[in-house]
Amino acid sequence: MRYLLKNGTIVSGDQMKKADVLIEDEKILETGPDLHDPEAVLVDVTGELLFPGFIDAHTHFQLEVSGTVTADDFDTGTRAAIKGGTTMVIDFATQYKGETLEEALENWHQRADNRSSCDYSFHMAISDWNKNTAESMEHMMEEGITSFKMYMTYPDMILNDHDIFMALRKMKEIGGITGVHCENSGMIDALTEEARNKGDLGADVHPKVRPEGAEAEAVNRLLAIAGEIGIPVIVVHLTCKEALDAVERARKKGQTVFAETCPQYLLLDSSLYETGEEGRNYICSPPLRKKENQKVLWEGLRNGTIQTVSTDHCSFTTKQKGFGRDDFTKTPNGMPGVETRGVLLYTYGVGKGLLTPQQMCRVLSENPAKLYGLYPKKGCIMPGSDADIAVIDPEREDVITAESQEQNVDYSPFEGTKIKGTIDKVFLRGCLVTDGGRVVKIKQGKFIKRGPHML
Ligand code: URP
Ligand code: ZN
Ligand code: ZN
Ligand code: ZN
Repeated sequence: MRYLLKNGTIVSGDQMKKADVLIEDEKILETGPDLHDPEAVLVDVTGELLFPGFIDAHTHFQLEVSGTVTADDFDTGTRAAIKGGTTMVIDFATQYKGETLEEALENWHQRADNRSSCDYSFHMAISDWNKNTAESMEHMMEEGITSFKMYMTYPDMILNDHDIFMALRKMKEIGGITGVHCENSGMIDALTEEARNKGDLGADVHPKVRPEGAEAEAVNRLLAIAGEIGIPVIVVHLTCKEALDAVERARKKGQTVFAETCPQYLLLDSSLYETGEEGRNYICSPPLRKKENQKVLWEGLRNGTIQTVSTDHCSFTTKQKGFGRDDFTKTPNGMPGVETRGVLLYTYGVGKGLLTPQQMCRVLSENPAKLYGLYPKKGCIMPGSDADIAVIDPEREDVITAESQEQNVDYSPFEGTKIKGTIDKVFLRGCLVTDGGRVVKIKQGKFIKRGPHML
């Protein structure tokens, strides 16, 4: 099958170029001005922007948390992804305590294989450090699972400093890269206990028991450990100035540190917890922060101190969120977002002059592809690359509503948000999977083995 995309503008991390794109089967065959191919299906993309398919390196599909399971699994979650221009997700295969990494990987393959509508891989979340874990990490690298995840909080997944140190030492030996959820669990436990004793359990208390200092402390500690070992690490879902300052300090000392943030931290703030019952729909960790942090995060994307924007999609219905109606500690943490990341970054980043399209391409496509060992197979529109393309119509307007979403949830954190610049078409390895903003082909996703990180 051949497609010829005519008269669009190709966006890469450093330029915008008016050019046609010729796709043959799963690959980009050629890009350039005025291409012709009598055998190709012509697709008119005049006036539209062609981004390399977006990569979402932080999703939680079909994850068991707080006695329930996320509303989106790989079926609904990846449909939402392709509707939003995301052609690859890297989810978290999670090792439950007592399990081997091999078992966790097998478990996640069962959840994702033959069900996914975009390409996928997994980071391996280590939550049980033992001698076997070290050897299993080598196996993961052989399986193309070249990135790992560790949590410095959450009782079911937390690793202590001893285990983080040991795991990162092993990581250095095998050449893996690690993303870490940074929050100081001791501080959070103490503050939560105090709130509970006072009977202070509304959603508005959630950000107060997980303060910015708890995030910054954990970032500092992680970077001290990583610095001692001499290994690069990724701070995932970074939310605030204090945490970014800690990253910058470590870099000044010569450390390699990557940082990821998410649309909710760029666009929403902690006043949403003050909206009564509805506040529980915004409960995620780390929590939404005070508005002044947003400027810092946008600036971080612009000047390159923050490398990627992922979603941390971890969705629950309002009913599930309501479990904690009178007790925020029982509300499962997380928000939906895999569907709306591209249009939000375009509208509120590019549209507001905070990001260039090239910078948007870097944080959504090129950087995650490089960081997670996918480049140049993914993350760029070049001859030989996978034909993963998100076509944005920069003029078309839309409004985000729960009712019109593919995500399997009955609310949207961005309900009523105006969009200018919509996802028109999406190609996944040469297959037209979204057309006119609608998902037209599902379950075309494949597991992608990844190489070592190279950012
Ligand atoms: O609240 C969140 N972010 N839930 C998902 C798990 C995590 O911490 O990334
Ligand atoms: Zn082996
Ligand atoms: Zn996390
Ligand atoms: Zn997460």
